[in-house]
Amino acid sequence: MIKKEQVVEKKVKFGIIGTGAIATMHAAALEAAGNAELVAVYDKATGRANDFAAKYNVRSVESFEDFLADPEVEAVTIATPTGIHGAVVLPAAKAGKHILCEKPLDVTLEKSDEIIDTCNANDVTLAAVFQSRFGTSVQFLKKAIDSGRFGKMILASTQIRWFRSQEYYDSAGWRGTWALDGGGALTNQSIHTIDLLVYLNGDPEQVFAFADTMTHTGIEVEDTAAAVVKFKNGSMGTIEASTSCEPGFPRRIEISGSKGSVILEDDRIVRWEFAEELPEDAEIREKGVAGEGLHGGSGDPMAIDYEGHRRQIEDLAGAILAKAEPQLPGNEGRRAVQLICGIYESVKTGEPVKF
Ligand SMILES: NC(=O)c1ccc[n+]([C@@H]2O[C@H](COP(=O)([O-])OP(=O)(O)OC[C@H]3O[C@@H](n4cnc5c(N)ncnc54)[C@H](O)[C@@H]3O)[C@@H](O)[C@H]2O)c1
Repeated sequence: MIKKEQVVEKKVKFGIIGTGAIATMHAAALEAAGNAELVAVYDKATGRANDFAAKYNVRSVESFEDFLADPEVEAVTIATPTGIHGAVVLPAAKAGKHILCEKPLDVTLEKSDEIIDTCNANDVTLAAVFQSRFGTSVQFLKKAIDSGRFGKMILASTQIRWFRSQEYYDSAGWRGTWALDGGGALTNQSIHTIDLLVYLNGDPEQVFAFADTMTHTGIEVEDTAAAVVKFKNGSMGTIEASTSCEPGFPRRIEISGSKGSVILEDDRIVRWEFAEELPEDAEIREKGVAGEGLHGGSGDPMAIDYEGHRRQIEDLAGAILAKAEPQLPGNEGRRAVQLICGIYESVKTGEPVKF
């Protein structure tokens, strides 16, 4: 019989597929995680994988087939361009590897569902990365909403007035393409905040939107969008999403109900006000105002901390060890994709889209 202490001490051995920008956060998070460790990496650009492996003192496996056949690798993080998530997740799941898939799951709902279904069919655990959900301020807000403190939900809105340079879009051929990025400011950058919106306030009933490419050249997708949303819980709100706004302000989430209003800026609570004050509110304000330094990368994609990924990796590894559901399984990961696909449909047709 396995003793409880042994379960706690075991570390799930991870590999990384795709050793580009975000993989450095995965490696740092795996190094810091108490129940997971990095053992091997694979990238189709072998030189890049070798350099990465040398930096983190792990193995670089040159063939994808050998990487998937490696019995030491129990789980993999997916850090390839978005449109290549499915292409690597499906064989990895079939090889029995548990999966942490970067956001968004893939570029369409159909491809996202194929990932979810394949992981289920092969009995591997799938977690979709949305590291912002693991922030303490977000959890304070989620608890307040779920416990009914807001009364009737009235308005739930987000502002993502971010900035990405032309050099950012030029830095890799897949950025700003429909096939591999799946969209622009909405799908790549604002998806974290849109995920928080549906996580906190629930799924949308209807959306109407505009989108345009305002400042960047050579990209197929929007760098700015504005949407009006009617939610299933009866509330309404707006989504402003851009990568054209110098210098890039912290993202805002503003939630108001008949009995209270809260504003988050990045991971900081800047307003926390309810008709009925509770004893814990003073502590929530104190912790929330300080924040945890979990910035969203408003002006620079790498100006994020690995702490959010560490928390999510520990959650997934814990779920794998306990054979339990992670906090962010695949069907949670598809919710923001669904809303964003509805926004694109509305932009295309000029009509509101019902879900
Ligand atoms: N959670 C976050 O905050 C966050 C931040 C940035 C990026 N991301 C996501 O991470 C993913 C990667 O983004 P990035 O900015 O690191 O991209 P990147 O271009 O810097 O790195 C992608 C890497 O994948 C490799 N690759 C491409 N095709 C491959 C294949 N078939 N097999 C193996 N490797 C392959 C490339 O060679 C490259 O090294 C995207 O889905 C993006 O949306 C998430």
